[in-house]
Amino acid sequence: MKDYELIDLHSLGDDRGQLIVFEKGVNCPFDVKRVFYIFDTKYDMSRGCHANKNSEFLLVVINGSCRVKIDNGKEQSDVLLNRPDKGLYLNKMVWKEMYEFSYNAVLMVLSNMPYHEEEYIRDYDKFKEMIKNA
Ligand code: TYD
Repeated sequence: MKDYELIDLHSLGDDRGQLIVFEKGVNCPFDVKRVFYIFDTKYDMSRGCHANKNSEFLLVVINGSCRVKIDNGKEQSDVLLNRPDKGLYLNKMVWKEMYEFSYNAVLMVLSNMPYHEEEYIRDYDKFKEMIKNA
């Protein structure tokens, strides 16, 4: 997989509305082991600012919008998430920062891993060092 990829989520729509489902191979490249969502955010307060040794993520803004800075240690990218039918896949060992959350934004995050604080890298210099030595 690439460092990151914006995925068009397949929506099952009819007259009643839309429905999006996540399973391994259905809108999501991995087997989902963890789901969390982030809300009550502030426009000028970013979140994330870490990389993960093993966790991959799929970010979906269910409501509102936010931006995501992605850094693989060599190149930086910036993605706007403003639709509930777009998913941002993030590979392991990618530094991410979610920022500019709109009012009432709800960011849902799926992961291939349960939560283990030991596999979070929260120091940017350490992340750069690990990329250099990889
Ligand atoms: P944090 O990693 O700071 O959130 P974000 O990635 O949005 O910046 O997590 C906030 C707190 O929640 C922190 O104490 C760790 C805890 N947490 C869990 O216990 N389980 C989880 O799956 C996540 C994502 C966080």
